[in-house]
Amino acid sequence: MRNLQREALLKRLKRISHHGLLLCLGLLALTLPAAEPVDFQGSAQMTPFDEEIIDYPHVRATDPVAVLKRKLDYEEIKLKADEKFGLLPSLLKELKIPQSSQMLVFSKTSLQRHLIGPKNPRALFFNDDVYVGYIPGSQIIEIASSDSKLGAVFYTLDQTDPVNPRLRRDNQCLECHASTRNMGVPGHLARSFIPDEEGKVDMFSGSMMVNHKTPFEKRWSGWYVTGESGKMVHNGNLMGEAAFKKQEAEPGYLSNQKELKHFFDTAKYPQGGSDIVALMTFEHQAHLHNFITRLNYETRIHLTMYQHTRHLHQIVDGFVRYLLFADEVPLPNPVKGTSSFAEEFQQLGPRDSKGRSLRDLDLQTRLLKYPCSYLIYSDPFTQMPPEAKELVYRRLHEVLTGKETGEAYARVTKESRQAIREILLETKKDLPAYWRE
Ligand code: HEC
Repeated sequence: MRNLQREALLKRLKRISHHGLLLCLGLLALTLPAAEPVDFQGSAQMTPFDEEIIDYPHVRATDPVAVLKRKLDYEEIKLKADEKFGLLPSLLKELKIPQSSQMLVFSKTSLQRHLIGPKNPRALFFNDDVYVGYIPGSQIIEIASSDSKLGAVFYTLDQTDPVNPRLRRDNQCLECHASTRNMGVPGHLARSFIPDEEGKVDMFSGSMMVNHKTPFEKRWSGWYVTGESGKMVHNGNLMGEAAFKKQEAEPGYLSNQKELKHFFDTAKYPQGGSDIVALMTFEHQAHLHNFITRLNYETRIHLTMYQHTRHLHQIVDGFVRYLLFADEVPLPNPVKGTSSFAEEFQQLGPRDSKGRSLRDLDLQTRLLKYPCSYLIYSDPFTQMPPEAKELVYRRLHEVLTGKETGEAYARVTKESRQAIREILLETKKDLPAYWRE
């Protein structure tokens, strides 16, 4: 029986990788510039997440929104409706998501696109675990939450009746949120589409996934961006052909916005801006969440099918490279946000005895002062299958102790490696014993 299942799964995997590859090559040819860096060979292939080993549709979620849902169902807590923003402020508070993380996207690229546009952008808020989407005029608040077993789990909060709001898990979101575009797993999307004056996009005109490896001149098409970024050229705040033409003659002419009142009525949102530091943090993190999920799935699939993890080295190396920002695009000059996001983010710690934290922001030449992702403290990382975590910790140890001298990690300096190792030794409890030798 077990053998039969295994064969069926192998067949399915082969089929998926074949289709995935063809589809992926087609899309690549259509949309991406040649030099889009890949995380590991096959990183765009779909995973069989709806089948037995992962069983995404049926496994019970335990992410922070699942916990909130249980509390609401048992009436342990109640969300309070705000006159202006409905249940949003109460929801953000319960989930401990700072309002200062507000980012605004005006391209018509997501579920409720008929409501979204430059005059009514969609606001996104996030913390280490949960992402929330809010559109003025919509009864539906969209939520994506990170579950340690499942990856991203999606919910809608329907506030048509604000006294009895309905929070529901919604797997239909996977139509867009589980594709070759986000590592073939149920996951998060951070993208950059060239929009026209109304926010409409041509899906084949250079849309791309964005993370900390994406050059700034390709970022933030379809997004509002506030903050200081000096001479950095990016596509934030641009809409329509004329605006993009003007940008060619006058690079960065709409960068460095302090506020957005001249674009639309900002009073419809909890915050006035779309913070540049929040955007950079979000883009780093959304991709890493997808990567954690992919590594988690791959490990469980490999353990079931082959009873070992020997084939995972390439993906683990790609993972550690991303975790350590080895391929991060350097900031051309310092950046500064407009909200209190940076301040609140850094306060969360943890800190070592020298006062250092992986959450310390650099913002001069890069995002983090000690370039190792703070998501290493998150549940989805900490609760990865032990076999996967052991491989990651082993590779991380090789790099941080300087045993790894390859070109791929050249940008992670000796000082950074030492500081990160010291911080982890004092703040991360589940390190293997050999780290302390
Ligand atoms: C038509 C495709 C599409 C569908 C369907 C869709 N989304 Fe998205 N979603 C996107 C895109 C594209 C983004 C990236 C930001 C943007 O362009 O607006 C996104 C971003 C998000 C984000 C913020 C970042 C992230 O990925 O976590 C949340 C939260 C979200 N969506 C929730 C949902 C929920 C909940 C549903 C289902 C009720 C859903 N989405 C259905 C396309 C879609």
